[in-house]
Amino acid sequence: MGLMTKPVMVTEGDFSKLLSFPVQAGLNQTLTAQSTTANIKGTTIPVLGYQPNSLLGPTFRVNNGNALNILLQNNLSEHTNIHWHGLKIPALMDGHPDQLANAKGTFRYQFMINQRAGLSWYHPHPHENTGKQVFQGLAGLFIINDAEEAALNLPSGQNEIPLIIQDKRITNTGITYNPTTEEVMAGYMGESIVVNGVYSPYAEVSTRYYRLRILNASNARLYNLTFSNNADMIVIGNDGGLLKNPITVKEIMIAPGERLDILVNFGGTTMGTEIFLLSKEFPHGGDAQGKQSFRIMKFRVVIAVTDLFTVPASLSTINTIAASSAVRTRTFEISNAMEHHGYPMNDGMKMRHRINGKLFDSNRIDEAVTANTNEIWVFDNSKGDEPHPMHMHGLFFQVLDRNGGRGSKIASENGWKDTVLVMPGETVRVLVPFENNTGKFVFHCHNLEHEDDGMMLQYQLS
Ligand code: C2O
Ligand code: CU
Repeated sequence: MGLMTKPVMVTEGDFSKLLSFPVQAGLNQTLTAQSTTANIKGTTIPVLGYQPNSLLGPTFRVNNGNALNILLQNNLSEHTNIHWHGLKIPALMDGHPDQLANAKGTFRYQFMINQRAGLSWYHPHPHENTGKQVFQGLAGLFIINDAEEAALNLPSGQNEIPLIIQDKRITNTGITYNPTTEEVMAGYMGESIVVNGVYSPYAEVSTRYYRLRILNASNARLYNLTFSNNADMIVIGNDGGLLKNPITVKEIMIAPGERLDILVNFGGTTMGTEIFLLSKEFPHGGDAQGKQSFRIMKFRVVIAVTDLFTVPASLSTINTIAASSAVRTRTFEISNAMEHHGYPMNDGMKMRHRINGKLFDSNRIDEAVTANTNEIWVFDNSKGDEPHPMHMHGLFFQVLDRNGGRGSKIASENGWKDTVLVMPGETVRVLVPFENNTGKFVFHCHNLEHEDDGMMLQYQLS
């Protein structure tokens, strides 16, 4: 039997605060990790941010081929770094937990963008402190554009809305982060849902298609997104960019670290209509997740326009990699079943999140992989009772299949992924093309409490 973990219930606000957006970053950018303040629920409280007076950091919007030069200035009193989640960049620029900026120190990130369009993001990755630093405000978006995507004429400008969804635990003294043992098991969750750092927001929209670029930057909370008017969610992209073809669904799960690119049509609605993006209850979430429906934000339809946009039938080319091309299969036991079966309370094996029975050790290479080979990686949570979103650094993979639990791939698991949700009872197989980005990279559970607890290993590509 699992340790009793209880859901943290969400309390909705009144959706009266206008959604806002982080400022845009440049190709030459200083990001200053700092303690600052922000007004989130009517009071100004201490938070962390990469700029003064707000949570989060500026949004990068770059083109494939751009060169970036980013100085991390660490004004915190502890070390930090930046992982560029979803960027295919050299190991020494990736924000490995070994590569840190000391308190009051700096770290310079210089890299070229050499990948297709997509929504990536950035956040700290100092081992055992990632959860706290992200929860208290450090994260930002990184959007890559390219010519292929531009040619589709997808909704852009005001009609392309980035949404960073997070839950926070807010008191009038700050964003509380002090997980109990039970909260390390379930992951740390908050009662207040913020979007782009704004609690209970609304956005004004017109009667047309919008493109929603959604990131789940929560530490542990899963969302089962749907619209209150049951509008179609037209999934056009995910972690690694556009899908081959749009896939229409009514609801879709998003786990910490994952991204979604969705079209929604507010056409045909009358002025003043209010439509909520909400998270519906869902099965398989273990003891702590999926027990409640709650609203995340409101769209108010306020302008009537004529919209000539039609959803393209075909979006991009995705070369499906044959499973038979894999030279090797590696299986990762992520059930953490030993936590629950007969180990005495004082045993060292008790109460920790592991992969294949191991805790993170930066001095140990867990998997040695040969460049330019394909492998099948299997994440086995068949005996587990907690969801684990598994993330690999430095590459994108293709999801082959899922057995147990939900039993099949979901719409956003087509195309290219860097994070895949493995629910209790599930085994998910992914096809990983290791290219020639050699070096030492981590892979881990993106439930940040699990990650900080040690649910992270390393692969060395050579
Ligand atoms: Cu977004 Cu290693 O993580
Ligand atoms: Cu996990």
